[in-house]
Amino acid sequence: MSFIVTLHPSGEHFEARPGESVLTAALRHGLNLPHSCRGGSCMSCQAHIRSGRVQYPRGTPSALSAVDQAADQALLCQAVAETDLDIDIAPLVTPGDIRIRRLPCRVQRVERLCPDVMMLALKLPGFEPFEYLAGQYVDILLREGERRSFSLANPPHHSELLEIHVRRVPGGRFSDYVFNDMKPRALLRLEGPLGQFYLREDSDRPILMMGGGTGYAPLKAMLEHAFHLGWERPIHLYWGARARIDLYDAERLLAWVGERPGFRFTPVLSEPDPGETWDGRVGFVHEALVADYPNLSAHDVYMAGPPPMIKAGRLLLPERGLDPQRLYFDSFDYAQPRGEGPA
Ligand SMILES: Cc1cc2nc3c(=O)[nH]c(=O)nc-3n(C[C@H](O)[C@H](O)[C@H](O)COP(=O)(O)OP(=O)(O)OC[C@H]3O[C@@H](n4cnc5c(N)ncnc54)[C@H](O)[C@@H]3O)c2cc1C
Ligand code: FES
Repeated sequence: MSFIVTLHPSGEHFEARPGESVLTAALRHGLNLPHSCRGGSCMSCQAHIRSGRVQYPRGTPSALSAVDQAADQALLCQAVAETDLDIDIAPLVTPGDIRIRRLPCRVQRVERLCPDVMMLALKLPGFEPFEYLAGQYVDILLREGERRSFSLANPPHHSELLEIHVRRVPGGRFSDYVFNDMKPRALLRLEGPLGQFYLREDSDRPILMMGGGTGYAPLKAMLEHAFHLGWERPIHLYWGARARIDLYDAERLLAWVGERPGFRFTPVLSEPDPGETWDGRVGFVHEALVADYPNLSAHDVYMAGPPPMIKAGRLLLPERGLDPQRLYFDSFDYAQPRGEGPA
């Protein structure tokens, strides 16, 4: 049975299908509610339930404390409606109020960026431009209602083909397909643009960016967008990877350091191969960033990548004076093992 979810104070409402999370239902109706990981860990989708009941078919998320639950707080990426709901939450209005769409696309080009990362260039049907903000992501819609999130790595002014960087996940349903079975010109379906991770153009504060692995992808889109706007605002990118070979775009970044006033790049390796020469930084990328910037009170910080890096950043960076409102992030959690409603 479906239920009606009403948002307050806007009064917008939509239908949630059986078994579908409230967040997925909202996105399906084009309402971009706050969220990031969609895995119940980052708390970005927390909201107050005014009336009605939700349940958590995958178990109550550990991030949601007993105190939160007693105060009728819910995590909408996990919560499924058991009744009609009234919820206090405002959909995010992105600049330009961009529509979320579902579209078919064709894999136009595939390129292996490094042993564990594949770049897919996706071609959308030609009739309308696909609008998005630099840093946002799309969901690839699989069969049986499953979906996989991938950030767009190219900037909106170069969106003839949408570029995504797919990291190989051992046993991963989509990445196994990409690395092993995908045929040239394969057809996919996507939904997007999604998320609130995008470059805030109304700030003039210096920017720090932190990417882990393919967390570099949305930061690349942001950098190219900032350069396109002609910004000379200081931007310092920290990119963490396991070994040198995983820094698959280092050459381009080093070229930008020479060409783009205000841009700096610091690669950080967590496990450099013993056989390779590396005189750069070693360790955790967030530790390198705070070692260089002990006081972050004047900065905006953008970070994307593995959940442990995001968690560490969210704890550590505000302790170094960063205003939490100036910390923008996308946590690259694994997709839920089961489908989130019909795709
Ligand atoms: C907003 C957002 C943006 C994202 N952007 C990108 C991006 O640009 N590029 C990118 O590569 N990824 C990105 N991700 C992560 C990506 O969506 C997931 O990794 C996705 O699940 C991969 O799909 P898959 O089908 O290959 O693997 P899945 O089929 O989802 O993975 C299989 C299962 O294996 C298990 N598993 C495998 N390895 C591990 C491990 N190391 N630790 C814990 N569990 C494991 C998990 O239970 C997982 O459910 C993003 C995620 C989010 C939320
Ligand atoms: S906890 Fe719901 S989006 Fe992260």
